[in-house]
Amino acid sequence: MQTTRLGRTGLVVSRLCLGMMTYGTPKWRPWVLDETASRPLVRHAVEQGINFFDSADMYSAGESEVLTGRFVREFCQRDEIVVATKLFYPVGLGLGSGLAPAANAHEPRPNTSGLSRKRILHAVDASLQRLGMDYIDLYQIHRWDPATPIEETMEALHDVVKAGKVRYLGASSMWAWQFAKAQEVARRHGWTPFASMQNHYNLAYREEEREMIPLCRDQGVALIPWSPLARGFLAGNRKADDLQAGATARASTDDIAQRLYYRASDFQTVERLSALAQARGVSNATLAYAWLLHKGVTAPIFGASKPEQIDQAVAAVSTTLSADEIVQLEQGYEPHPVLGHV
Ligand SMILES: NC(=O)c1ccc[n+]([C@@H]2O[C@H](COP(=O)([O-])OP(=O)(O)OC[C@H]3O[C@@H](n4cnc5c(N)ncnc54)[C@H](OP(=O)(O)O)[C@@H]3O)[C@@H](O)[C@H]2O)c1
Repeated sequence: MQTTRLGRTGLVVSRLCLGMMTYGTPKWRPWVLDETASRPLVRHAVEQGINFFDSADMYSAGESEVLTGRFVREFCQRDEIVVATKLFYPVGLGLGSGLAPAANAHEPRPNTSGLSRKRILHAVDASLQRLGMDYIDLYQIHRWDPATPIEETMEALHDVVKAGKVRYLGASSMWAWQFAKAQEVARRHGWTPFASMQNHYNLAYREEEREMIPLCRDQGVALIPWSPLARGFLAGNRKADDLQAGATARASTDDIAQRLYYRASDFQTVERLSALAQARGVSNATLAYAWLLHKGVTAPIFGASKPEQIDQAVAAVSTTLSADEIVQLEQGYEPHPVLGHV
C-alpha cells in the first residue's frame, strides 16, 4: 500500500481511507453492517495495508466509533493507525437524516449538536470513551455551525489538541469562504489550523473543483473526499426507473444517494465510466478511485460492504490513467446544484 503525508503535516496515511459509516448497526440505516459482518472486512482492509479509518460520532448513533475502536485494538498496533472521527450532528438512533429529535416539533434539544465550546468539550470525551482510546488522530468538524462564532470553535478545538486528546484537526463540507475564514482565525490567534478537508467529490459531483479544491491545494491542505463512488451509484448497479430494485441493500434503501445523484446526466457519467472500465478490464470502482487519486486527492474515504470491494479499491492505487482517459471520464459532466453542505 502506498502511503503519503496528510497535507503539510508529518502524519503518514495510506492512499485509501476506510469509511466506517458502513459499520455499526442496521437500526440506524438498513444497509449498515453489524459487528459480526463488519469484523472480517475491517481486518481485510488492515491486511491490505490501510492504516487510515474515518468514523463520526453520529454514525449508527456512536456504534461505528465503538466498532472502530474495538477492531483497531484487535487487529492493529495503535501507533501505526490513524483514527479520524467527527462532531457536529446530534448522536442518537432515529436520526436518519441527521436532524435532532424534536422534544417539541420545532426545537432541537439544546447543546446536542453544533460547534460551541460546550459541545466540543463534551463530544470529544464521548468519542474517546466510545473508541476506547486516549487520543483521536484527526478530529473533524462535520459541518459549519452558523450559530457559533468561529473564534469560539477554533479556540475550543485548539484546546482539545493542547489537552492531548486530539493530534490533528480537519474540516468537512462547507463553503470555501468559511474554510478560509476558519484557517485565518486559527493563524491569527496561534491556534491549530485544519490539516485536511473531507469534502464531497467524485466523478458524478465535481462542484468542489470551483473553489474548495484550488484553495486546499494552494494552502497545502489534504483532500480526503467522502463518497468517492457516489454512495455506490458509480458502481453501475443502480437503476433509474425503479429506485427500490437496486442490486444491493444500499442501492434500494439509500435515499440520500437517490436524492444526491440519479439525474439523467449522472447515469451518463456511469455509462462513460463503465465503458472505459470494460475496455480496461477493471471495475468501475477501481477507475473511479484511480481518477480521484490522479486529481491530487490524498486519500479517498471509501465504503465497502464486501471484501472484493476493498480489493478493487486497493487496485486503484496502482492504476494509471492517461490524459485522454481522464478527458473521456470527465467530458459531458453537467454541473450540479451544491450538494452535501448541510
Ligand atoms: N463528511 C461527510 O459529510 C460524509 C458523508 C458521507 C460519507 N462520509 C464518509 O465517507 C465514507 C464513505 O462513504 P460512502 O460509503 O458513501 O462511500 P462510497 O465509496 O461512495 O460508497 C460505498 C458503497 O459503494 C458500494 N461499493 C463499494 N465498492 C464497490 C465495488 N467495488 N463495486 C460495487 N459497489 C461498490 C457499496 O455499496 P453496496 O453495499 O451497494 O455494494 C458501498 O457501501 C463513509 O464511511 C464516511 O466515513 C462522510
